Amino acid sequence: MEQIETNTDFAKDVQTGLTSGTKSLSSKYFYDDTGSRIFQDIMRMPEYYLTDCELEIFETQKQHIFESFTESGDEFELIELGAGDGMKTRILLSYLLEKNCDFKYIPIDISEDAVSNLVIDLELKLPELNIIGKVGDYFELLNEKEFNGQTKKILLFLGSNIGNYNYPDTLAFLSKLKEVMNPRDLLFIGFDMKKDSDIILKAYNDPHGHTAAFNLNLLQRINDELDADFILQNFKHREVYDSETGTAKSELISIKNQSVEIKELNLTVSFEEGEAIFMEISQKYDTVMINELAERSGFQVVRNFFDKRLFFMNSLWKLK
Ligand code: AVI
Repeated sequence: MEQIETNTDFAKDVQTGLTSGTKSLSSKYFYDDTGSRIFQDIMRMPEYYLTDCELEIFETQKQHIFESFTESGDEFELIELGAGDGMKTRILLSYLLEKNCDFKYIPIDISEDAVSNLVIDLELKLPELNIIGKVGDYFELLNEKEFNGQTKKILLFLGSNIGNYNYPDTLAFLSKLKEVMNPRDLLFIGFDMKKDSDIILKAYNDPHGHTAAFNLNLLQRINDELDADFILQNFKHREVYDSETGTAKSELISIKNQSVEIKELNLTVSFEEGEAIFMEISQKYDTVMINELAERSGFQVVRNFFDKRLFFMNSLWKLK
């Protein structure tokens, strides 16, 4: 996810979110060190099918993916937005190397730790890989001169990260990507597909409590960074899924009437019993929605790659 944040942005967003009619906090602040660790736990749980599905797609269809990436035969830069630990991408990287592809891998992430660990790890495991890690905002980096050359770019946005944007933000994100792309460039996006609501709810309301901890950690972050006194046990996590729209929503529910003081903001926030703080959207798609999204944002679908259960899709797009 695109996450440039300063303390001031964080403070401002918390203030706005908790003083609005419907209280909300932005999920882009989930990923401090603890949050990133909890997200790794989420990705490893069997209930969070998304990881296995995308891994399966890469494992079983790497040859077709490779063919689509290299159809025009040129060298390319493989730029991953929000690379994290690059666990899934590694499968593609090894295969591209095996096929003697002429490419450079450029993982971008907001977390310095994530990028340096990934670079160290890949330099060790895939010594022949040409890798340059970048830390920072996707668009600031993509607008740098080095990406404005003629080398073909293939942008990766994996793992259903796009699902954490609401519809207007999704369109805005894609339109910004379009601006940095040239006619030969490609965009490879991971979409989580609509499916049985029980499967989705289990992935986002897991029995291990990881998703609850992931959400509650943001309250802890507000305690630590903005000198607040949230009592975490006074909030519980709830996931709702609307199977028609495909929207999964995470909320924290206040289990009693209570007020919380946020000293840095000079703010006291009152919560009623049962009141929700909206935390995150995880949008699920169907092929009609994906085609429409490509069309509306000025892209053309080149090819889709599914896992065998049709739970997840990696869609390859080019400019229209
Ligand atoms: C990062 N993103 C794609 C995850 C998702 O599935 O929406 C974040 C997440 N939230 C709860 N579980 C996972």
